[in-house]
Amino acid sequence: MATLRNIKSLRRLHVKSYGCQMNVYDSNRMTDLLTRDSYVETDTPEDADLIILNTCHIREKAAEKIYSELGRIRRLKREATRAGRNLMVAVAGCVAQAEGEEIVRRAPVVDMVVGPQNYHRLPALLAEAERGAKVVDTEFPVENKFNHLAPATAAAIRSRGATAFVTVQEGCDKFCTFCVVPYTRGAEASRPVAAIVAEVEHLVEAGVREITLIGQNVNAYHGEAADRCPATLGDLLRRVAKVPGVLRLRYTTSHPRDMDDGLIAAHRDLPALMPQLHLPVQSGSDRVLAAMNRRHTRAEYLNVIARLRAARPDMAFTSDFIVGFPGETEEDFRDTLRIVEEVGFAGAFSFKYSPRPGTPAAERQNQVAEEVKAERLARLQHRIDAHQRAFNQNCAGRNLEVLLEKPGRLPGQMVGRSPYLQAVQVMAPSTLTGEIVTVRITEVGSNSLFGVLRSAEAPKPALAATGD
Ligand code: SAH
Ligand code: SF4
Ligand code: F3S
Repeated sequence: MATLRNIKSLRRLHVKSYGCQMNVYDSNRMTDLLTRDSYVETDTPEDADLIILNTCHIREKAAEKIYSELGRIRRLKREATRAGRNLMVAVAGCVAQAEGEEIVRRAPVVDMVVGPQNYHRLPALLAEAERGAKVVDTEFPVENKFNHLAPATAAAIRSRGATAFVTVQEGCDKFCTFCVVPYTRGAEASRPVAAIVAEVEHLVEAGVREITLIGQNVNAYHGEAADRCPATLGDLLRRVAKVPGVLRLRYTTSHPRDMDDGLIAAHRDLPALMPQLHLPVQSGSDRVLAAMNRRHTRAEYLNVIARLRAARPDMAFTSDFIVGFPGETEEDFRDTLRIVEEVGFAGAFSFKYSPRPGTPAAERQNQVAEEVKAERLARLQHRIDAHQRAFNQNCAGRNLEVLLEKPGRLPGQMVGRSPYLQAVQVMAPSTLTGEIVTVRITEVGSNSLFGVLRSAEAPKPALAATGD
């Protein structure tokens, strides 16, 4: 750990995270590992001695963004060298895994390329790179990186706020035909229940109140429990809910096919489990779903939604959509618009299909023209926005339980999250950070809700929205 005496001799680390929550979690773990002895964090790349870009390969745009960032870093490196400093540059994450040595060829400014399963080796890899070697480590190692990572210090946890992600599962065996994740993250693997519970206890001790269990396919979780049998995600949620101090629980991202009865029952039984679920559907057309190898139909998806609503009537759903998948017709696309109306999503991400090298759909001859994709995306987003507005509008006048997270936009204002994950702005003292308060919603904006403080109580199990 850094002490005041040696802080001057420490090198400065800047980590920039792209893509999903798994990358946010991994970026924090890399920071925890490196700040254990030789680095301190810096927010500014200009004064860094080591820059790590933790990258995403999901769509072409995401991957290309990295190369323009590396262009900027090349200039920083030149300036650092002129000032007599040695700036090291590492590319981690899914672009690292997918492109490996190609990154060093295309951007010689890069000293190290390290895949998502290898970053526990960073200190050793750095030492090698500092000796002048270009280091590329993208093997899927036999050892489990989680056994080699450093726990975050209480100060680091506090600096990240009252909510935290905990990776419980990694990788994917589903092989949707559009998706790079099974290639960049490898096969599904789950962490044991005991290791997850220990991490949650550690986070809660340092002040975390809301835990989101994360995985590329989180509800395919099958980690070892105390009796050595595999636990399901439902079992895991029940166990984590028992950790004293866990006021709120969430999990993401789920696959519709893996929403089993036990998991649905957890939504009925656990008050801490928030009534909001991100459940990507991708398309409303059975023909397209089959071509995507999603392994579920639109009827099966709607059935999962109905069962969840029966278990927890105030469930709010968000989703992901892809438009312009190879072969998607106007009729298929209308089926997607129809499912938006049928479910009434509280929000959704939607993307134009992006052909990814090495995935089966990229090879198909029946690619959809760019203008058609753009036009469908606009129509879809228009409907999604309307539903999101209606969902938010419906909260006006209600009392919502809000976990206050950080200062808001205006002086004296705090921002927090409702049970449905909406951002809520409220005038409140910063001493309430990390507390769940009741807020009366007075106004609905385009990105957040606004409200007035009704009560500020000591932490207690979170309740769902209460109308009065
Ligand atoms: N594991 C999650 C999603 C991971 S990727 C699931 O099973 O749904 C996040 C989202 O990116 C996906 O839900 C999908 O909507 C989108 N996506 C993935 N590959 C894509 C591609 N090739 N083009 C466009 N969007 C894509
Ligand atoms: Fe990608 Fe499909 Fe796996 Fe999700 S389930 S990560 S979309 S392959
Ligand atoms: Fe991107 Fe990799 Fe996550 S491709 S979405 S960072 S798993």
